[in-house]
Amino acid sequence: MTDELRVAPGGALRGEIDVPGDKSISHRAVMFGALAEGKTRIERFLPGQDCLSTIDCFRRLGIVIEQLSPTDVVVQGKGLRGLTEPSDILDVGNSGTTLRLMAGILAGQPFFSVLTGDSSIRRRPMGRVTAPLTAMGAVIRGRDGGRLAPIAIDGAASALKPLTYSSPVASAQVKSALLLAGLYTEGETAVREPYASRDHTERMLTAFGAKLQVAQEPEGAYCATITGFPDLRGQVITVPGDISSAAFFLVAATIVPGSAVLLRHVGMNPTRDGVIEVLQAMGAKIRSENERMEAGEPVADLYVESASLRGTVVSGGQIPRLIDEIPILAVAALFAEGRTEFRDAAELRVKETDRIATVAAELRKFGACVEEREDGMIIEGGRPLQGATVESHGDHRIAMAMAVAALQAAGETVIHGASCMDVSFPGFARYLASLRS
Ligand code: S3P
Repeated sequence: MTDELRVAPGGALRGEIDVPGDKSISHRAVMFGALAEGKTRIERFLPGQDCLSTIDCFRRLGIVIEQLSPTDVVVQGKGLRGLTEPSDILDVGNSGTTLRLMAGILAGQPFFSVLTGDSSIRRRPMGRVTAPLTAMGAVIRGRDGGRLAPIAIDGAASALKPLTYSSPVASAQVKSALLLAGLYTEGETAVREPYASRDHTERMLTAFGAKLQVAQEPEGAYCATITGFPDLRGQVITVPGDISSAAFFLVAATIVPGSAVLLRHVGMNPTRDGVIEVLQAMGAKIRSENERMEAGEPVADLYVESASLRGTVVSGGQIPRLIDEIPILAVAALFAEGRTEFRDAAELRVKETDRIATVAAELRKFGACVEEREDGMIIEGGRPLQGATVESHGDHRIAMAMAVAALQAAGETVIHGASCMDVSFPGFARYLASLRS
């Protein structure tokens, strides 16, 4: 089987897409469902590779999970104390969310477990999670002094106590890992971050019955506090469409002249909607319709038409609200008049790939002018693009961003290693083709 996607330019995008379920929310629905008493039903679950890794890990921990269809999942929760010792390592594949959040959960279990993943996962920083978990009393060993996976968690030797922790990075994975460990402490665990990262854990754990308080603090800082040993009860969760997946079509319809696309069921959580704010500031025509709440999350349909863009600056507290959308926003910047600058985004260097390096390297192959900075990049827009042969580097969002750039490049583009799109957006190429026919 060839692992490449060929994209030819030309043709407006028209039609509508029911945006596949949110990756972050799908992971959490499985995890919290497993830790709750009774049945959790998940509708519009994202059957991407990452979320399937989460299901696999919980099955290995003794939880019965049925997939009635790819997007319809039932988790038979066994309560906070219901997990059992896995007989083998837990493999998270490419999923950083599974790795970090599981570390928090496993620190609270009275048994031994080992977490590992693919070569990308084994390069990603774990010290940001293992150091505060160790401060809570967890006994964790790993490569490089616990800073890299595989990591081994000796739950039997751990005695967790509550912690008040200020994270140097705004990271929902760090925050969630510590809040989940906090479920297994007598007392209150508080996590402060410099800016609010996505708050799906706080919203969903509250819906499951946890006692959780959140506070917006001066200068954008944010603090979430959880009380240990709640009674969690199974829920019915309808997963909103993933705004990070919708973003590829928001940009595609904006840059391809004559396009008009309706994206249905998009999650509009204010900790995630930075991509819309930035695209609108650049001149994009995006209208939000039919706004509603589902499973404690705001949802809307987005109507997007092609538009001319101008450059902008993206920085500071905006960054956590669009961290996963920077590769596709970099593509939008190629079609904007003037320069676009991404600052304060050093976190990009520790994602599935070093996304500053991979975005810059691959976009240059189209003839783009991209300057790398330690914490971001500067892009000069308005240059004509040439179709190119590009690499995904095994990074789903790089592969999809390149497919969108290819829509407006002269000549065919070949994307090598395109199957990694399945990590977060199974069927991406089919959805794109459906708007072009
Ligand atoms: C995620 C949090 C973000 C994001 C990732 C998913 C989550 O990472 O980049 O794709 O589900 O919690 P950080 O919280 O580490 O920035």
